[in-house]
Amino acid sequence: MKRIYKAHLLFTKERSRFEVLENSYIAVENGCIVGVASDLSSLDYKSAEITDFGDCLLIPAMNDLHVHAPQYRNQGMAMDLELLPWLQNYTFPEEMKYADLHYADSLYRRFVFDLWRFGTMRACVFATVHTDSTRLLMHIFQEAGMGALVGKVGMNRNCPTELTESVEDMTQGCESLIEEFPQFYAQNSQPPTPLVRPIITPRFVPSCTPEMLRACGELAVRYQLPVQSHLSENKDEIAWVQALEPESSCYGDAYDRYGLFGQTPTVMAHCVWTDGEELELMKRRGVMVAHCPTSNLNLASGMAPIRKFLEKGLDVGLGSDISGGHNLSIFKVMVYAIQTSKMYYQQNQEMTFLTLPEVFWMATKSAGSFFGHVGSFEPGYEFDALVIDDSNLNFNNYSLLERLERYIYLGDDRQITHRFCRGREIKMQ
Ligand code: GUN
Ligand code: FE
Repeated sequence: MKRIYKAHLLFTKERSRFEVLENSYIAVENGCIVGVASDLSSLDYKSAEITDFGDCLLIPAMNDLHVHAPQYRNQGMAMDLELLPWLQNYTFPEEMKYADLHYADSLYRRFVFDLWRFGTMRACVFATVHTDSTRLLMHIFQEAGMGALVGKVGMNRNCPTELTESVEDMTQGCESLIEEFPQFYAQNSQPPTPLVRPIITPRFVPSCTPEMLRACGELAVRYQLPVQSHLSENKDEIAWVQALEPESSCYGDAYDRYGLFGQTPTVMAHCVWTDGEELELMKRRGVMVAHCPTSNLNLASGMAPIRKFLEKGLDVGLGSDISGGHNLSIFKVMVYAIQTSKMYYQQNQEMTFLTLPEVFWMATKSAGSFFGHVGSFEPGYEFDALVIDDSNLNFNNYSLLERLERYIYLGDDRQITHRFCRGREIKMQ
């Protein structure tokens, strides 16, 4: 069944500018966009069902490239420490609670509901070391109809025994999830990839022995799975990695040695202090950056040089990094990304700060590329979209671009009236 949606369309095909199509149409079939046009007659519309969203904005849905589901209870608190003591004092004790499936169930449902509320239809998620509660989180995403790459976290050193798992148990746990949530459907099936899939997730080098890192790299290659972790977030962390892995030439190289740095699609969160050889290695390996400005501010980690990454040709998306980050709305993360880049620009007297189309592109088309053809309104892209009724913010003849900017800076979940993931309207209550 073909469907056509009419509204004001705003999206970023390219990094530096918005496409703005006033009162235009998107045709969707089998979850994918098959046509975008300003006049209905240029689409094959005869057998289509047409939905008119009037004066609303229609934009691609948000993608969160880095978030910790089991830190949801800690959102908006415990901001008085830097990364390493923050992990020991606040984060690990909370993650330990996810051995209890009842606890996991109540908080994971709330977490997924709030992602939905703020218009995030795809997320790259850290769970915990616990296989059963990770499976539960995957089922909750699946029931919701939202897209997620979910990682059972690998940890076996420098953490409480309750969060320590043997390499064998980690491997078995991952394999049971991989079996239950295959990376690909059978050949020729539609749509081509499942919405909820596992991702290999060593927490970070200090939490994983060389054997654990090696086992993670082997799983990624054997099952052709993507990889996520943390990289060069905090200066104490970087010094610790150098002490733990003295043979590696930089933090990124410590992952690379174990097949965890672009051997399969890889996203690394933060990269605040990435430069020189590490930056070159990321470029060479096609490793993506998840930029988490709120987390970098709250944990006093520093300001990531995102303009430099973009100029070098790295792919960058945005992450909320709950609970290092305090705000689950990727719209608000866009604002923080711009503001942080303005501070960076003043401090370093170099290059220019990030613009609105650039951060919008990072959150939509760029981050979306980690999930497939996601994040733009172009034929062949999956239809992930949000309808924004900004009438309460639009009281004085604003242009469409001004309306979008004001929604990003001033709006919240109340203006989002419809959410689509892979062509399906996702409803929750
Ligand atoms: N590095 C290792 N674990 C974490 C985490 O949970 N949050 C952040 N921000 N950095 C990390
Ligand atoms: Fe993180």
